[in-house]
Amino acid sequence: MVVLGIETSCDETATAVVEDGEKLLSSVVWSSMDLHTVYGGVVPEIAARSHIESIIPVIEQALKEAFPPQSSISNLQSSDPWDQIDAIAVVNGAGLGGSLLVGVTVAKELAILKDKPLYSINHVEAHVYASFLTESKKEWRLENRDWRIGGKNYQFPVQQPDFPMLALIVSGGHTQLALFKDHFDYELLGQTRDDAVGEVFDKAAKIIGLPYPGGVSISKEAVHGDDKKYSLPKAKLKDDKYGFSFSGLKTAVLRLAQAEIGEDYTFPSYKLPERLSDTQRANIAASFQRVAIETLVDKTIKAYEEYSPKSIVIAGGVAASQELRKQLRERLNTVDLNASNILTYPDMKLCTDNGAMVATLGCYKAMLNQTPADPYFLEINPNLCM
Ligand code: KG4
Ligand code: ZN
Repeated sequence: MVVLGIETSCDETATAVVEDGEKLLSSVVWSSMDLHTVYGGVVPEIAARSHIESIIPVIEQALKEAFPPQSSISNLQSSDPWDQIDAIAVVNGAGLGGSLLVGVTVAKELAILKDKPLYSINHVEAHVYASFLTESKKEWRLENRDWRIGGKNYQFPVQQPDFPMLALIVSGGHTQLALFKDHFDYELLGQTRDDAVGEVFDKAAKIIGLPYPGGVSISKEAVHGDDKKYSLPKAKLKDDKYGFSFSGLKTAVLRLAQAEIGEDYTFPSYKLPERLSDTQRANIAASFQRVAIETLVDKTIKAYEEYSPKSIVIAGGVAASQELRKQLRERLNTVDLNASNILTYPDMKLCTDNGAMVATLGCYKAMLNQTPADPYFLEINPNLCM
């Protein structure tokens, strides 16, 4: 089963080809991030326009990388890559309306023109499936002892996660804990009531004068700071064991920065970055990162203890955080010496938005006989939930 995946839910125009839900044949990601950086966040209209410009070249590139044109004239195999594609998978939610529309419209047209089944994909579910990729094309592959190192610098887990699987899904739009009993059979244990954790990284970064996206800039800055310098609050949610709340932490970072420069809560946040010293900035970044990640890890450990899953998967942009990987590994080891062995995370490049996770989930939908979408009627759903 070979699936072309298409993802345009935010600022990445991403496509990929995946075989049998575990082998990566190609992955192409075009990001319009640079165009948004000056605004401090993604501008929907700019993102949509960029998708329109790049979607066709990005699809063509993924097909070309997956099925390089044969040079030998004696090769009888068809040279049309579409002959090798069994199905198309496209993200139809959640995301920005204008951005989703570009990917979905192109996918519907291709499904009709090329006569392929079309699978609609939930972006958040797809993030989890990045961890099911365990290998790449033979010609790319190199092996090492613990991880399979695919060519083009992909690093894959040695084996796919087992069910029941606990998934911590952490991105710019979502913070969720879900228990997957099997493919397409999952229970949402809890989610954020307000800001998503990635969003809080982005906002905290802005407060202390670090560039967007905040997850990356805070993790770089935190290396120079003391993560115990400040204590910041963790939300305690009564009657919501696996829920999250990050809005209090965001406000606490603002108040801390104001207090550090000797001002009160009326001091405008946009003037803060120029008044903070490098040391203050690094210490706030490190302390914030520690507490934000601890909050995620606390709930994940609690769910591990309650449900005894056979695997734990971290997914989404924030899963790229080395601090999250480290804290989770260490805490799991304190609970159970073998527990950190069941922790799986995708290659860094497959944590943030990509087409490979979409194609992978598309493979499982096709292989497990899920009903395809009607290419004449599939609609976008910007608020699609898990
Ligand atoms: O999954 P993603 O690419 O897009 C969404 O679906 O939202 O996640 C983007 C988020 C951003 O908020 C970004 O700040 C965060 O992932 N992020 C990180 C790191 N790299 C990206 N957060 C913490 N540490 C990182 N290293
Ligand atoms: Zn995402």
